Formats: sequence, structure tokens, C-alpha cells
Amino acid sequence: MKSLWLDRESHFASDALPDQKHWDTIVVGAGITGMVAALLLSRSGQRVVVFEARSLGAVTTGNTTGKLSLLQGGALSALRSQYSLKVVQAYVEANKTGQAWLTQYMEQQGVPFQRRTAVTFATTDDGGQRLRKEAAVARDAGLDVHFSRDTGLPFPVVEALELEDQAQLHPMEVLDALAKDIRGHGGVIVERVQVQNVGSGQPMEVSTRKGTFTADAVVVATGTPILDRGLYFAKLEPNRSYAAALRPPAGTTVPQGMYLSIDSPTRSQRTHPTPEGELLLVGGYGHTGGRAASPQQHLDSLLGWAQEHYPGSEVTHTWSAQDYQATNLMPFFGKLPRGHGRIFFATGYNKWGLSNGVAAALSLTSDLLGGQSDWASVIHHRVTSPQGALQAVRLNASVAKRMVEDRAKVRNNPEITDETRPPEGMGVVGLYQGEPAAVSTVDGKVCRVSASCAHLGGLLSWNDAEKSWDCPLHGSRFTPEGKYLEGPATHHLQKTVGKKKKD
Ligand SMILES: Cc1cc2nc3c(=O)[nH]c(=O)nc-3n(C[C@H](O)[C@H](O)[C@H](O)COP(=O)(O)OP(=O)(O)OC[C@H]3O[C@@H](n4cnc5c(N)ncnc54)[C@H](O)[C@@H]3O)c2cc1C
Ligand code: FES
Repeated sequence: MKSLWLDRESHFASDALPDQKHWDTIVVGAGITGMVAALLLSRSGQRVVVFEARSLGAVTTGNTTGKLSLLQGGALSALRSQYSLKVVQAYVEANKTGQAWLTQYMEQQGVPFQRRTAVTFATTDDGGQRLRKEAAVARDAGLDVHFSRDTGLPFPVVEALELEDQAQLHPMEVLDALAKDIRGHGGVIVERVQVQNVGSGQPMEVSTRKGTFTADAVVVATGTPILDRGLYFAKLEPNRSYAAALRPPAGTTVPQGMYLSIDSPTRSQRTHPTPEGELLLVGGYGHTGGRAASPQQHLDSLLGWAQEHYPGSEVTHTWSAQDYQATNLMPFFGKLPRGHGRIFFATGYNKWGLSNGVAAALSLTSDLLGGQSDWASVIHHRVTSPQGALQAVRLNASVAKRMVEDRAKVRNNPEITDETRPPEGMGVVGLYQGEPAAVSTVDGKVCRVSASCAHLGGLLSWNDAEKSWDCPLHGSRFTPEGKYLEGPATHHLQKTVGKKKKD
């Protein structure tokens, strides 16, 4: 599946691997966080290289729904249940700063975007109650929200909360502008370079599959951090969800706001202008990464919902992506533990990374260059709430339970042999000569790889929508051939050899 944003003639070509080995800062990851950080650092006169394992925006940024909004579903009341109002205000301030920076940047660079009203709607009484709580916290945090029942949506809503003057954008057009600007300031961006480790010496050694480089500072902007220092992967839940672009039949009235349901399953909606007319973008129906029995069913439910309300629409694109929710709900950004104050990271945006990612990049580059904002210091000095700590314990207990259950279950699955050939588009896991193996058939090609995740050995499960092997523990994903796609792993899957042949 390919997102509407990534389905285009690329305006970006990778730089060649540089001969220069030492850099002021190496940025790992070319999503919104890494690219904004790289621009700010190169603008300050630093020599900066961005290493990207795949391609510009390939993972989450190129697969968003592209809403740049301070009205974020039930996010503020969820934060308020764990933190003081001062901390929630700091979160809103961070997002305002990120949003303002990005809209101003798009205006300066001539990147088109549309100003829109953001709407969070409830279709149940319970949702209505949650919406009222959200409104109260949003107002306390300084947002000028108001209620409305006249949303224009083609189904009844119990209540809707609105915030005017938010924005919707094309994330790849933003990344293209950032790339051009970074290069204009002497920065280098190299795709298909996967960083595997960062040493602790000074300067730091950054090992990649294509050689070792050194830097005075490293920014890890890889979605979930690839380095295990601080064990952040254990404090983050990967949440995968689905999106589609549809062309409604001529004459259909599509409401112009940016909508998000507060009830589950989450349903999101916005428009996107194209030369051939306006597209309708829908999203939602998420689940914990690697844990859905059939991701395709989640996508089908989303498409079913869209067709019910916009009958006769032609589906032009479908895609899915994941983002990470911190157990204590607050994005993590700053210095990575045991990084001697020179390794910076940012993660945990809970599907609001367009503003949070920019804010994080502003904060960590300002740390790196010797400044700090008020909101960042309030967020850094917050007290971890008991609920946040408990949620981390729960998450890790569920991860440990899942690992044990999966290992037991795989022994009962049919044995994998050299003849195993799943139906087209499907994958199966079982023991091959005593070791967990994953076999899939995609476009007639049968691939067998190790079923143990290259991160910490979670048992992989088949994603029938994306045709990938996904890890239910911390969200790493791999192609049918075992190549790394995303998540905290830094290696590809091993080939299966089986115990007998190894002995
Ligand atoms: C379905 C969906 C819809 C969303 N919609 C919205 C929205 O409407 N508004 C909003 O604000 N947010 C939205 N989000 C969230 C937002 O898209 C993300 O929070 C944001 O894009 C994360 O940016 P990032 O730069 O941290 O990560 P990414 O965009 O994932 O970038 C990280 C990069 O690091 C690279 N990388 C990883 N490991 C390595 C390595 N070892 N070496 C080198 N490179 C590496 C990856 O290949 C990747 O390109 C959505 C998320 C999802 C899943
Ligand atoms: S992602 Fe951690 S074990 Fe798979």
C-alpha cells in the first residue's frame, strides 16, 4: 500500500555517501523531527548529515493524515488526568510553538496548505461527556474552543467541539522544502543508510551498514528510538492505524473541516485539493502494532464506514502507519540517558507529531546550541504520575505475557517444512527443524525467514494488509524477505537454517 503523499514523482534525490567522516551533528531519520532538527542546526552553521534507513518520509511522516491541529481528540483531558494544569498548558504551548513554526515556514517557502476548523465529534452520550471534559481542559489551557451541532457531517453527532484556524497540509511537500533548505545551508541527506549503533566516546562513533562516521552530537529521530539506552522502547506502545483517499462522485458535498471522533473506533476525516477535484481522506480503526488478527479487516471496516456515508466514492489510495504513545502520555524529547549529554532523541507523539515533532526539534536543537524554552523545562521537570508508572508496568507485563504465550503457541502450530507454501498474500509461523520460522507467499514468491524479531526476539505475526512481518512486542516490522521496515530493531531478520543443519 502507498499513501496519497508518497505516490508521486519524487522531487528529492539522495546525496551520495559522503567521504567526510566527521560531522558536528549526525541526525538519524528523515521524518518531520529529523528534518526540522537538521535545518535548525545547519542554519546555525553546523556541519550536519542526515542518515535515513529508507527514504525521505517513508515511515510515519509520509503516511500521516496531515492535520496540524491543537484540538487533538481527547488528548488534553487524558493528560490532565495525570498532570497538573501547568504541565498541560506547557504541552499546549509546545504544540502552539510547533504549529506556528511550521505554518510560518510553509508560508515563507510557498508550500501550500489550507486553514481549516478542527472538529472533535461525539456520536454517543459517553463521547459527549468526554467531549465536555476535553472542552473544559482545553479552555483552561488557553484554547478558544466552542461547541457546535452543525458539523456538516453526513451522520448524526451528539455534540462537536471546534477550534478554528487550524491547518491541513501535504507532509511530503513540507519534507521536500526542508530538504532543499537543509542543502542550501550545506547539509547532506543520505537515504538507505541504516545506523546500527552510536558509541559513547567523544567524538561519538556512529556505525552504519555503509561504514563508521563520527560526530560531536547525534540526534536520534527514528520514531521509536533505535538505541536501547534508557529503554524507551519499553515505555512506548506502537499504535497502527489505517487511512484511505476517496474520490466522491460529482455533486457530493464533502464537509470542509478536519474531523476526529472521540468515540472508538477512532474515525478521522479531511479533504485534500487536487487538480482533478477534491479528495476525501479518512482514517482510523487502529490497534496495537503487531497484535491484530487481521489488519486487512481494520482497513475494510474503515472503507466500509467511508462508503456508508459517501456512497459511490472511488478509493484511490489506502495505507497504514504507526506512531508511538508514551505510557505516561507525554512525548519524550531531550538528552538520551548514558549519552554524555550529546545524544538527543524525541518520540511518543501519539499521532500528533506534526506539531509535537517540530516542537521537539526546536527544543532539542536549542538544548544542543545552548538555550531552553519555558514549556520544555516544565515538561522536563514534570513528576511522572502514578498512572503513568502503572501503565508502564502494565505494558511490560502484557509484553512479557505475549512473549511467553506466543512461544508456547508456536509449538502447537503445524510444522514448517521445505514444502510449506501459504496461500497467496498470507504468512504462517511454526517450527522449522526446531526453530521458529515465518513463511509467506507474496506475488507467487515463497519466502522463509526467522520468526524471531531482530530486536529482542518477539514472535512475529503476519500483516495481511501490508504483507509484512510485524512484532507484537515493540512494533518492529520486516518485509517478507526479512528486510527491516521500521521500529526499534537495527538488523534484518535472520535466514532460517533450523537446529538440525546448524548442529
Ligand atoms: C495513521 C497516522 C496518521 C497520523 N496523522 C497525523 C496528523 O494528522 N497530524 C499529526 O500531527 N500527526 C499525525 N500522525 C503522527 C505523525 O505522523 C508522527 O508523529 C510523525 O510523523 C513522526 O515523525 P518522526 O520524524 O518522529 O518519525 P518518522 O516520520 O517515522 O521518521 C523517522 C525516520 O527514521 C528512520 N529510521 C529509523 N531507524 C533508522 C536507523 N536505524 N537509521 C537511519 N534511519 C532510521 C525511518 O526510516 C524514518 O524515516 C499520524 C500518525 C499515523 C500513524
Ligand atoms: S520490536 Fe522489540 S522484540 Fe520485536
